[in-house]
Amino acid sequence: MENVTKKFPGVTALDNIQFNLKAGEVHVLLGENGAGKSTLIKIMTGAYTPTEGVIRVQGEEVKIDDPIHAQELGVGAVYQEFNLVPFLDVAQNVFLGKEPRKNGVIDRQYTLDKTKEALDMVGADIKADALVDTLGVASQQMVEIAKALNSRSKILILDEPSAVLTEKEIEKLFKVIERLTAEGVGVVYISHRLEEINVIADRVTVLRDGQYIQTVEVEKGKIDKDELVRLMVGRTLDDFFPKHDIEPGEEILRVENLGKKGVLENISFSLKKGEILGIGGLVGAGRTELAKAIFGAEPADSGKIFVHGKEVSIQSPSAGIANHIGVAPEDRKKEGLVQILEIDKNINLASMQKISRGPVVNFNKMDKVSNSMVDKLKIKTPHLKQLIMNLSGGNQQKVVLAKWLASDTEILILDEPTRGIDVGAKVEVYNLMNELAAAGKAIIMVSSELPELIAMSDRILVMHSGTISGELSKDEFSQERVLKLAAGGEA
Ligand SMILES: Nc1ncnc2c1ncn2[C@@H]1O[C@H](COP(=O)(O)OP(=O)(O)OP(=O)(O)O)[C@@H](O)[C@H]1O
Ligand SMILES: [Mg+2]
Repeated sequence: MENVTKKFPGVTALDNIQFNLKAGEVHVLLGENGAGKSTLIKIMTGAYTPTEGVIRVQGEEVKIDDPIHAQELGVGAVYQEFNLVPFLDVAQNVFLGKEPRKNGVIDRQYTLDKTKEALDMVGADIKADALVDTLGVASQQMVEIAKALNSRSKILILDEPSAVLTEKEIEKLFKVIERLTAEGVGVVYISHRLEEINVIADRVTVLRDGQYIQTVEVEKGKIDKDELVRLMVGRTLDDFFPKHDIEPGEEILRVENLGKKGVLENISFSLKKGEILGIGGLVGAGRTELAKAIFGAEPADSGKIFVHGKEVSIQSPSAGIANHIGVAPEDRKKEGLVQILEIDKNINLASMQKISRGPVVNFNKMDKVSNSMVDKLKIKTPHLKQLIMNLSGGNQQKVVLAKWLASDTEILILDEPTRGIDVGAKVEVYNLMNELAAAGKAIIMVSSELPELIAMSDRILVMHSGTISGELSKDEFSQERVLKLAAGGEA
């Protein structure tokens, strides 16, 4: 890609970018939220047309009209947000929009065979006729990769593929990548996790604010983390986990024997003002279900919840909000935001009563709150009326946090709060958590990132198959202990 520029109304997402990919290499695209990574790959796949610039595939200049044309050129991609149709099966998804026909009828057998071939290639144990809706995220991603590879891709683009995977699944993904690169496929890989880049990258290209910064060759296992961060954010970060210790105040939340059939069992704990309570465990241990039960999104069916010492009944999110509880959900796209609404409305969604009198909204107040949040969280947007769906992934997460900061939330549940967030913004989120704790709010943080869990929590509860398998106080924190408890063993 030569001198590629992409302009959206009010935003130059990419300004004169250079990028090249060699056969058999893993080329990482690195940059802060909103730097332009996803936009660049959408141009590679024909989802966007560049405003200016030239694209060559194997030396030939091409105009990529749309994703199907890109696939014909050997470019396959898995986007940051999945694009599978849940009520179709795997083979139907893989061949969506390019169904092979025999005598005018879709050749079902052919699609099943070819899909099986592609699934075998990525080493996925998934049936070609399984309904996508019945698959977990990791399997869905394997289907996406199989789909991207279906046309014998020479180029595979993966936009933050590991954000939704567990450690084990990531290892599996890396094996697939290794196998593909050995066969000469060039891989473009986007991730905010520098540890991963250390494992798989051959080269790294850094973008900042739509500008091309530099391409560096890296040796596996020997990346210079500080240098990459400096290229990315334009300065060095001296503390990746700026945790402040705050003396906890009185109890604000207590949960007694909370249960939900088949999901949660006998969950009891209490939470104090100013405390950051970490919740560890493996995917599927019930952490997100616990968060939803406390907030009222998926209420518990037994047990008691006390807020400020008073028993409350939380049967819906509005009851959760009325009790000053907020959740930044794991699935922010579906549950945390209204994609088709503007930034300002999303920010004020949980505090409408604060900025309105009766049915009348005070738009001046709404503007003021929104502006201060956009400033405070450094949300990258041309204006407050931008639709959420046009924001980069990381900036969407910041809007979710802004929504609860703008409201009177006292108990904030953060489910994987820094997933998909760049290193600089992560530090900003941690600083915000510190600020909230210092202001007497209480935070429950569900996290699969052990360094984050250990650095930012005052206390850690570990969950295993719907129960609390152990509690660790600060002097007991270690990755090993968390992992042992997560596996259901003794710490
Ligand atoms: N369809 C669109 N309309 C308007 N602006 C857009 C659109 N798509 C992207 N942008 C803007 O272009 C810039 C680059 O966004 P992009 O999604 O490429 O960032 P990114 O590097 O992938 O970030 P992240 O790490 O958060 O995913 C952002 O400022 C974003 O708001
Ligand atoms: Mg992106």
